[in-house]
Amino acid sequence: MGRADAPYHLPVMVDRVVEWLRPLDGSIIVDATFGGGGHSAALLDALPRARVVALDRDPDAAMAAARLGPRIAFHRSDFRHLQAVLTEEGLDDLDGAVFDLGVSSHQLDVGERGFSYRRPGPLDMRMGPDASLTADEVVNTWSEHDLADVIRRYGEERFAARIAAAVVRARPIADTAQLADVVAGAVPARARDHGHPARRTFQGIRIAVNDELAALTDGLDVALRLLRPGGRIVVISYHSLEDRITKRRFAAGATDCVCPPDFPICVCGRSAELRLLTRKVERPSAAEVTANPRARSARLRAAEKV
Ligand SMILES: C[S@@+](CC[C@H](N)C(=O)[O-])C[C@H]1O[C@@H](n2cnc3c(N)ncnc32)[C@H](O)[C@@H]1O
Repeated sequence: MGRADAPYHLPVMVDRVVEWLRPLDGSIIVDATFGGGGHSAALLDALPRARVVALDRDPDAAMAAARLGPRIAFHRSDFRHLQAVLTEEGLDDLDGAVFDLGVSSHQLDVGERGFSYRRPGPLDMRMGPDASLTADEVVNTWSEHDLADVIRRYGEERFAARIAAAVVRARPIADTAQLADVVAGAVPARARDHGHPARRTFQGIRIAVNDELAALTDGLDVALRLLRPGGRIVVISYHSLEDRITKRRFAAGATDCVCPPDFPICVCGRSAELRLLTRKVERPSAAEVTANPRARSARLRAAEKV
């Protein structure tokens, strides 16, 4: 059901990723979200002495890795398990990391994966076979309250309660096409001005199925712990929930003293572990968004270990 001629994924803000990681030639760079390998390929090209350790939860991502030659090692793994992956590679730490979050175009384009509100497919939405939950369980078995909570919190959908009630009334829901129809019917016509009315609901369910926000929190912690002094990390997020986690984690790492403001002297003795490379979030250029509309919501942050 995917388009046979479609590229696996067009990498987003690839020049910015390369620029932030360029000083790390000759070292080990982790591509935590390999996908179609666009960022890895650009890094291998621009940094001729670097090696890449690539991870992805999705077994389909292995296809692209085979083409990139001997300087890359691919592991089908959740980036939460980065330490175990590095140990398997005989490494104790890393010099650079890129996290390009969310789903790939390939995952959205293949209807059978169940991510798309535009293509019929099973209610699946698992990024990899390691996920213990499927969209079918969330949609057809969760309580109306829990369903509304996921759609509201992870989909940032203001009509979550109406949508959850409509889904529960329509059970059993057979596939993504029926789910998209039920959601569209529950969103008032006056609110249907920004994209497909099921976009936020699908996002919310997908985040719950893959436990994406907890994975990001854990993945950033592991990567920052293993990053060598002078090492750099780049994170590209696609919605405000991911970006908030990244922003707060970087800000916490870049903070020296955490004593209450009314303490006359510092008693915590803490010193910052990070230096922010991007003071403000970076966005893709208008030209990139025109060429690749899926880049539209991208926000990039970069930091350096001190
Ligand atoms: C936006 S795509 C990455 C595209 C890639 N940078 C490229 O240029 O082709 C995001 C990828 O991250 C993977 N992913 C998401 N969460 C993950 C996690 N916790 N661990 C490992 N991979 C993950 C997805 O399976 C997907 O392939």
